[in-house]
Amino acid sequence: MSDIVVIYSSHYGFTEAYARWLAEELTADLLEAGKVRKEDLEKYGTIVYGGGLYAGGVNGISLLVKNAERLQGKKLYLFTVGASDPADPENAANIRNGIAKVLPSTMLEAIGIYHLRGGLRYSKMSMVHRTMMAMLRKVLLKKPEAERRSEDKALLETYGQDISFLDRAAIAPLVEDICREAAQT
Ligand SMILES: Cc1cc2nc3c(=O)[nH]c(=O)nc-3n(C[C@H](O)[C@H](O)[C@H](O)COP(=O)(O)O)c2cc1C
Repeated sequence: MSDIVVIYSSHYGFTEAYARWLAEELTADLLEAGKVRKEDLEKYGTIVYGGGLYAGGVNGISLLVKNAERLQGKKLYLFTVGASDPADPENAANIRNGIAKVLPSTMLEAIGIYHLRGGLRYSKMSMVHRTMMAMLRKVLLKKPEAERRSEDKALLETYGQDISFLDRAAIAPLVEDICREAAQT
């Protein structure tokens, strides 16, 4: 058994793809968040959690919040998977602000946070998510063109089409950091 577990919560498979690649490269165990029991959290020294971004929040992050005490002293990593480009500093800052609002401050100080890019899968989207995307489109269409960010324009141009930015190479910094920290103990 590995001392590392990668836990993920994924609606359309993007976070799951990254979680599988991470588990493979780290020779870690892989668990879907819905199947995690408290004993699972107790037995690993390093816990990597990944969730998709939905309206600025991280899918399933409550698992970390609810188990904050149980996770104290462990090496913690969080990766987010969103459609927006995390290389854009404004996007990265927005995601971090969202995370800072929900994680307890002690956990926030200890956890390593990484952002990866997923995509949009309209063909499989639930009614609720489809409706949310339609509402977002309406809001963006009301914005004067000059005020639309490149992300806004891309969303409007590709609206309704499946799009993927999955990139296995993007997990390298996370893999390196986990391996470096693991080697220090
Ligand atoms: C209703 C809805 C809201 C979303 N909100 C965001 C968001 O706030 N930021 C972002 O970058 N991506 C957002 N996305 C895109 C998802 O994060 C993206 O599809 C991600 O790859 C989903 O990963 P998953 O399939 O593992 O759940 C949203 C998608 C939907 C359907």
